[in-house]
Amino acid sequence: MKFFLDTAITDEIKQYADTGLVDGVTTNPSLIVKSGRKIEEVIAEICDIIPGPVSAEVVATEYSEMISEGRGLAKIADNVVVKVPLTEDGLKACYTFSQEGIKVNVTLCFSPLQALLAAKSGATFISPFVGRVDDIGLDGMQLIGDIKEIYDNYGFATQILAASIRHPFHMLEAAKMGADVATFPAKVLDQMYKHPLTDKGLAAFLKDWEKSGQKIG
Ligand code: E4P
Repeated sequence: MKFFLDTAITDEIKQYADTGLVDGVTTNPSLIVKSGRKIEEVIAEICDIIPGPVSAEVVATEYSEMISEGRGLAKIADNVVVKVPLTEDGLKACYTFSQEGIKVNVTLCFSPLQALLAAKSGATFISPFVGRVDDIGLDGMQLIGDIKEIYDNYGFATQILAASIRHPFHMLEAAKMGADVATFPAKVLDQMYKHPLTDKGLAAFLKDWEKSGQKIG
């Protein structure tokens, strides 16, 4: 399972890059605005820090404008993945980009049939928004399961990128369901390390060791 960080804050990305756990980065227009920086500049810097896929989203909603924005974003670095919304124009742009060899992340996916359309349009990644489905009282994780079943039925190469992950339980469920990738804020990664029995066990080991007076090396 690949791990992507869902942020445009480069200091945060640098902090986690050394763990070897970060395979890529996703951004969206809201995250870019939150970074307070120009999109081209921040995406270029992220692409330098992380060699894996870095999603940069178009903001145009009309096909030809999406194509122009997407081609511009793709030129920033070889590891840019152009992100397009799951609309009719977005999927048409996805098809064009895929024909040109530009990798595409289709975002704002909320139904298995939308995901089927994205796969048929040549998407590299499909981003089902688990947390936002939960927010309206439905089961976001069911969406991952349904997409997985459909993609497996037909052998689609499109990777399922579980997005809008809010807590470690989402991660657990996404991993059990076989999502190819999960994108999440750094705080979810921090939470994944933690277990009270690990802390308790380590404290007990160190206490015993200290009593013994032994040293390693
Ligand atoms: C993914 O690409 C999206 O940017 C992100 O996961 C959305 O998460 P949110 O619903 O917590 O804003």
